[in-house]
Amino acid sequence: MKEYIQANQQRYLDELFDFLRIPSVSADSRHQPDMLRAAEYIKEKLLQAGLDKAEICPTAGHPVVYAEKIVNPEWPTILVYGHYDVQPADPVELWHTSPFEPVIRTTEIHPKGAIFARGACDDKGQIYMHVKAIEAMLKHDALTCNVKIMFEGEEEVGSANLATFVAENKEKLKADIILISDTSIIGHDVPSVETGLRGLAYMEVEVEGPNRDLHSGVYGGAVANPINVLSKMIASLHDEDGRITVKGFYDKVVELSAEERDALEAAPFNLEDYKKDLGIAEVSGEKGYTTRERASIRPTLDVNGIWGGYTGEGSKTVLPSKAFAKISMRLVPDQDWNEISDLFMQHFTAIAPPTVKVKVKPHHGGQPYVTPTDSPGYLAAFKAMQESFGKTPVPTRGGGSIPIVSLFEKELGLKSILLGFGLDSDALHSPNEHYGIVNFMKGIETIPLFYKYFRENFQ
Ligand code: BES
Ligand code: MN
Ligand code: MN
Repeated sequence: MKEYIQANQQRYLDELFDFLRIPSVSADSRHQPDMLRAAEYIKEKLLQAGLDKAEICPTAGHPVVYAEKIVNPEWPTILVYGHYDVQPADPVELWHTSPFEPVIRTTEIHPKGAIFARGACDDKGQIYMHVKAIEAMLKHDALTCNVKIMFEGEEEVGSANLATFVAENKEKLKADIILISDTSIIGHDVPSVETGLRGLAYMEVEVEGPNRDLHSGVYGGAVANPINVLSKMIASLHDEDGRITVKGFYDKVVELSAEERDALEAAPFNLEDYKKDLGIAEVSGEKGYTTRERASIRPTLDVNGIWGGYTGEGSKTVLPSKAFAKISMRLVPDQDWNEISDLFMQHFTAIAPPTVKVKVKPHHGGQPYVTPTDSPGYLAAFKAMQESFGKTPVPTRGGGSIPIVSLFEKELGLKSILLGFGLDSDALHSPNEHYGIVNFMKGIETIPLFYKYFRENFQ
C-alpha cells in the first residue's frame, strides 16, 4: 500500500490543489456559493474513493458532508471529523502568492516543498489525507474498520450549527472513536500526538463615553476618552506576573503534577529557534511557567482586535464617543466557558470607571478537552505514528481549540484522537499558510496504520 500511495503522490496533489482553489471562507457570506462548491467537491471525492452514501446535509448554516463505508457491522467504526471551511485570507497583500492559487515552494523547515494556500494545513490538506488513505485501503481490500465521515463547514466560525446536527443524528453518527487531523506534530523527526486542546471564551466589549464624537481641543482633558479608558481597562487584565486578574478566573484550573510537567518538558524545544522564527527578542507570559506550558496547559487572555476613533488617512483631532475590542480567553481543564464568560462580564463591568458605560457581549466558546493516553484509540495513534516515523512519539498538549470536540464527548459519548500532521510554524490563519508535502504524504501513510492498530486493540 505504501508503494501505491507514493506512486500516486502527483494525483493526490493535483486533486488537493483543485480543492484549495475553492475559496471556502465560512466567515464571509459572499463566499456562500464557494462553500457549497467545496462541499460538493469533497463529496464527489469521497464517492470516488469508494465510500457509499456520501451526502450533503443542510444545516441552518453551511452544510455538513457525511459519508460512510460499513464493511462489517462486527468491526469497530471510526468517525472521521474535519472541516472544509477556512479562515479569511486577509491581509491578502502579505501573501507572496495568491491564497487560492496553490503553489509548491521550499522553505528552511520544508526543504522537500510545501503547498502554499489558505487551508493547505488547516484543514483541507489534512482532511484530504483521510480521503486518500481510505481510497488506498479500499483499493487494497485493507479497510479494517468501518468508517463514517463528518466534514463541517463552520469550524472556523465556532461550529454553531454542528451541535444541532450531532444532537439530531446520534444514531447515524454511532461509532467507537472519533479521529481528527487538525492539529500539529512537533517536527518532521519528532512525531507527537496531542492529548488535549484548550477551550475558548470569546467576548466583544464596547465602551461608550460622550453621546457623540467631540472636538478633542474643545472637550479634550475634561471628558473621558473611551479609547484611553478601554486601553487602561485592558492593561489591568494582567498583573506584573502575567496572571489574569479577572476574579475567580483560576479557581477551576487543574494544576499539573511535577511528573506531568516533566513529561511534557521532555519533548524537544529550542527557545532560540522559537524566537528567531517569530522575529522577537524575548518571550513573555505567566511567571513560573515555560514557554511551552504558557501556550498549552495555562489559560490566556488576548485582545484580538481593537478599534474606535479615526483610523483613516492623515489625522483627525477627535475625541470619540465609543471604543471597541474583541477579547478571547483560552481555557484549560476544568474551566467552563460559560462560567468564565460570566466572570469576565462581571469583572469588566466592575472595573469600568463612572465616566463610561460598558457593554459586554459573548461570542462563541467551547470547553477544554483532554484524552487519556492509555485508551485503545490513543495507543493505536501512538503505534501508528511510531511505525510511520520510525521514532517514538511524544505526548503533547495542544494550545489551539476545536470547540466541538468536548461536545462530541458529551453528546455521542466518544473520545477524539488528535492525529494531526501540521507544524505550528505552518502559518495557520496567517498569510502564506502552507503544509509540507512530506507531512501530507506521512499522514496518508499513517492513517491506515491507525485503522490496523485500532482494530487490533479493539475488544
Ligand atoms: N485547527 C485549528 C485548531 C488547532 C490548531 C489546534 C493547531 C491545535 C493546533 C482550528 O481550525 C482552529 O483554528 N480553531 C480555532 C477555534 C475556533 C472557534 C475559531 C482556534 O483555535 O482559534
Ligand atoms: Mn482547523
Ligand atoms: Mn483554524
